[in-house]
Amino acid sequence: MSYSVSFILQQLIRAISGSASRARNVYYKSLGVEINGYAWLQKIEIPRNFSDISLANGVALDTGVTLLCTGMHTGKKKIIIGENTYINRYTFIDASNEIRIGRNVGIGPRCYITDHDHGTAPGELVMAQPLVRDTTTICDSVWLGAHVIVLQGVTIGANTVVAAGSVVARDLPPDVVAEGRPARVVKKRR
Ligand SMILES: CC(C)(COP(=O)(O)OP(=O)(O)OC[C@H]1O[C@@H](n2cnc3c(N)ncnc32)[C@H](O)[C@@H]1OP(=O)(O)O)[C@@H](O)C(=O)NCCC(=O)NCCS
Repeated sequence: MSYSVSFILQQLIRAISGSASRARNVYYKSLGVEINGYAWLQKIEIPRNFSDISLANGVALDTGVTLLCTGMHTGKKKIIIGENTYINRYTFIDASNEIRIGRNVGIGPRCYITDHDHGTAPGELVMAQPLVRDTTTICDSVWLGAHVIVLQGVTIGANTVVAAGSVVARDLPPDVVAEGRPARVVKKRR
């Protein structure tokens, strides 16, 4: 049996990519990220506060995903991602309080998920005002299309689909499709 050069090269690239992912598991664990089992990690960015992050077994973070935890270190995890959740390229998870992402969630490319706003009281610089924080929760088996924005304090119910380009500003129930800015329920999932 003979293999083409292209097939052999693809197998080689897969092997190198797998080794790089395993090395990143060791690297991020040593810095304090909690990884329960094995996570598939491409070239991601975790700038600081490594111990504020918890990844379950089977989490997959694609190229350019950023997990940023800011603010006081409370000893509580600020980014928690459940089993077998996949986050596509260049999505930014921006936590100051707590962002919980469930199991088997699919998050499209270039999404932005946050748990805080800057204060917007008049007569004072926005950037000088204290943050307004609340827990943001994305329940099991949700799918966010590309370029979805999820704002602070929102809960997206299990199995819900959010259409590409939507802005989730209020809670969404489980088992629906939601679209738009702000995202509104357009149909039940059958
Ligand atoms: C949410 C989604 C799955 C719905 O698909 P669907 O059930 O087949 O829905 P339809 O295409 O029939 O669209 C239903 C209606 O919503 C509108 N619509 C579809 N996607 C929309 C969007 N992203 N924003 C606003 N409106 C949208 C359609 O124009 C249609 O409107 P109409 O009833 O007035 O004609 C799909 O629209 C989507 O956003 N997919 C995400 C793709 C993606 O980001 N992939 C990245 C890979 S992770």
